[in-house]
Amino acid sequence: MTAAKSPDEGLAAVLHVLRDAADAVSGEHLATRLGLSRAAVWKRVHRLKAQGYVIEGSPRRGYRLLAVPDKLLPEEVLQGLETRVFTGPVHYFETLDSTNDLAKALAAQGAPEGTVVVAETQTRGRGRLGREWDSPPAAGLYVSLVLRPMLPPMELPQITLTTAVAVVRAVRRVAGLAPRIKWPNDLLLNGKKLGGILTEMETESDRIRHVVVGLGLNVNNPGFALDLAATATSLALAAGRTFFRVHLLQAWLEEFEELYNRFLHQGFAGILEEWKGFTETLGKMVTVRQGPREISGLALDVAPDGALLLRVANGEIVRVTSGEITPGSGAEPGV
Ligand code: BTN
Repeated sequence: MTAAKSPDEGLAAVLHVLRDAADAVSGEHLATRLGLSRAAVWKRVHRLKAQGYVIEGSPRRGYRLLAVPDKLLPEEVLQGLETRVFTGPVHYFETLDSTNDLAKALAAQGAPEGTVVVAETQTRGRGRLGREWDSPPAAGLYVSLVLRPMLPPMELPQITLTTAVAVVRAVRRVAGLAPRIKWPNDLLLNGKKLGGILTEMETESDRIRHVVVGLGLNVNNPGFALDLAATATSLALAAGRTFFRVHLLQAWLEEFEELYNRFLHQGFAGILEEWKGFTETLGKMVTVRQGPREISGLALDVAPDGALLLRVANGEIVRVTSGEITPGSGAEPGV
């Protein structure tokens, strides 16, 4: 006697056959090809429809896949993904408190490099500096990636900057829009916040045990609540059309894998040059807030390790490794 298969087992296989078929596929063909009963095929088609796949079914001709949903389902993320290491597993949730929190828990249990956690909405999405990350359902990309670089903890800022470069590349490729980066890793479009990156790590003695890179990107948000409307934007607002979020996720994973490998094997210098080409911070007067402390000066450069170099009023060069930047005022110091 064979054990009964759960309705989710074979879902990807049914989808795979439908996706590959040029025309409708009969229930009988699907059943024989996948070793299922006709009723089991019907159940799986039903499940796929419930997930948002548009499948036409006709008693004479069979089933035809007409449209896929804009959901970050693992089958969709992995379909045609051109990565070698970041290949999942993809943990998918309709609702989750925070993809970073789950990715951290999975990493602590030994999840491999390339593990992805995505959610359609987050109930406790977290931003940098203890802020909330607004995560309305199906509007944005809320994704976290597990990394296991053999690096000392002090190299973490470089991973964060690398992540931001990958986001800019992905958005340019998929949406044809060119976000700017505000140091260290805020993504801006037309001066408003489009996305952000939250990088968290676990260390042991003098090396990184694992890193979780969390990306929040406003994609199809039609607008924002009053408290955010003046400062936030989305790709849809900027472009006047919506985007398939899964295409952005795939592009980000592909670009990040290429950059991350380059960083590990050839160092950070080339990536930093690219980052500098995308930033809007350098050459401006800025104020950096670090809790109660504020430092103002001219954003001169970013050091090879990712620190921001500020020329302050007395002409001294100050290194800043964390904090929140706002536009500064006053004359350029030392000129
Ligand atoms: C920032 O403050 O700019 C960083 C925002 C990072 C938000 C993302 S959404 C996916 C991941 N899960 C979280 O809880 N936060 C990050």
